[in-house]
Amino acid sequence: MDEPKALYEKPILVKYQNGWSDKFGRLQAIIPMTHIDGWRVSDLIDKYGSPLFVFSERTMVRYCRELKELLALRYPKFQLAWSYKTNYLDAICKVFEREGSWAEVVSEFEFEKASRLKIPASRIILNGPYKTESVLEKGLKGGARIHIDHFDELSLLEKVADRLGVRPEVGIRINCSLSSTPNWDRFGFNLENGQAWSAVKRLSFGKSLVLAGLHCHIGTFILEPSAYREVTAKMVLFIKRLREEMGISIKWIDLGGGFASTNTLHSQYLPGKQVTPSFSQYVEAIGEGLEGLNGPTSDLPLLILETGRALIDEAGLLITTVQANKRLSDGRRALVVDTGIHHLITSLWYKHEIVPAQEFSGTLEPTVIFGPLCMNLDVIRANILYPPVKTGDHLVIKTVGAYNVTQWMQFITLRPNVVMISRNSQCDIIRRGETLDHIVALEEVPPWI
Ligand SMILES: Cc1ncc(COP(=O)(O)O)c(C=O)c1O
Repeated sequence: MDEPKALYEKPILVKYQNGWSDKFGRLQAIIPMTHIDGWRVSDLIDKYGSPLFVFSERTMVRYCRELKELLALRYPKFQLAWSYKTNYLDAICKVFEREGSWAEVVSEFEFEKASRLKIPASRIILNGPYKTESVLEKGLKGGARIHIDHFDELSLLEKVADRLGVRPEVGIRINCSLSSTPNWDRFGFNLENGQAWSAVKRLSFGKSLVLAGLHCHIGTFILEPSAYREVTAKMVLFIKRLREEMGISIKWIDLGGGFASTNTLHSQYLPGKQVTPSFSQYVEAIGEGLEGLNGPTSDLPLLILETGRALIDEAGLLITTVQANKRLSDGRRALVVDTGIHHLITSLWYKHEIVPAQEFSGTLEPTVIFGPLCMNLDVIRANILYPPVKTGDHLVIKTVGAYNVTQWMQFITLRPNVVMISRNSQCDIIRRGETLDHIVALEEVPPWI
């Protein structure tokens, strides 16, 4: 049999630059990832196609339990609520539910999705700046915790409660100024300008709703744990003022989400794995802030966290296949792979770690990794030092579990299979890849065309 021909690439001269070394004087090692939780990457592709999202149940459970164990050491009454928008695939939500999480939803669609999974409304937190009258009604009927975002919603909720003849306990969403992170003032009532206090007065004047909870989500990917100490301390002061001046006792305090995952932001110098605060740093900061609460444990408010990305990001991986190697006009090497920003919106703000799924040799070279879209912005990594890889090789894009399989879009190509590998290494599809039939099923061609 003839030997297969060696790949030929027309030689060009490129000024070789091995990138900048980091502050420790060395480059980040690229370690191939040949297996995911006991499965060979190439076997996964053979069975489920490429590209492929893979979720590790083991990693999800490890993160979830670690956070709960740390909280238990610091505060006696706490509850996690899974942030649906971070990833609302049924299987993902079920794993978190099995681990004891409630559901945190921000739309009627998400509320319906949680209800479909048989999560009782009393374990659903209803957030978000736009809640329809019908979702407010469903929430009130089932006893969901509704966090009011603005005055118009307050009036609407009063109207629905009056119509249903109920006087429910509700929460208000608060935003405030912090020294360590910019203020997200578009959600909730502002603390410093007195709006939050006006909302309290307005609620108590209306008499239809009973204030029992405070919610404050200070933002996302918060790299400064002390922000949580600061916000918690502000909430505690507010709780005291409510008790002293209005006789209101707060039963729950919800600090939203916001813990950073181990991804690396485009603006970050050091890799996320080196600089992302640990869960214990965040929990310690919250614990310190809560120290201002006094009284017996039975009187303490329930602490709720809606941690999203930090619980799921690392559990998600995206496997892709190299479709082409090419040279750009300036001599830079470029790869074209079969997944792009339509599946991986997070590549817009993260330098995702991308490693070959097979052993490699050869010199690292500055490389651009493009997706398959006929769009200039379809760039997964604009500049990564990469070893030679050839057409058909697989790459593993790490830490993609948060916000991608909810914010992805069907554009130019179809959305791929998503699988989950269980803790005993069983692999199953948790969302089937789309087909042309799925896409056209919603379309109509009017008869007059
Ligand atoms: C109200 C609320 N809760 C929880 C989350 C989850 O946040 P993260 O993924 O940063 O933990 C978000 C996301 O922005 C949110 O808006």
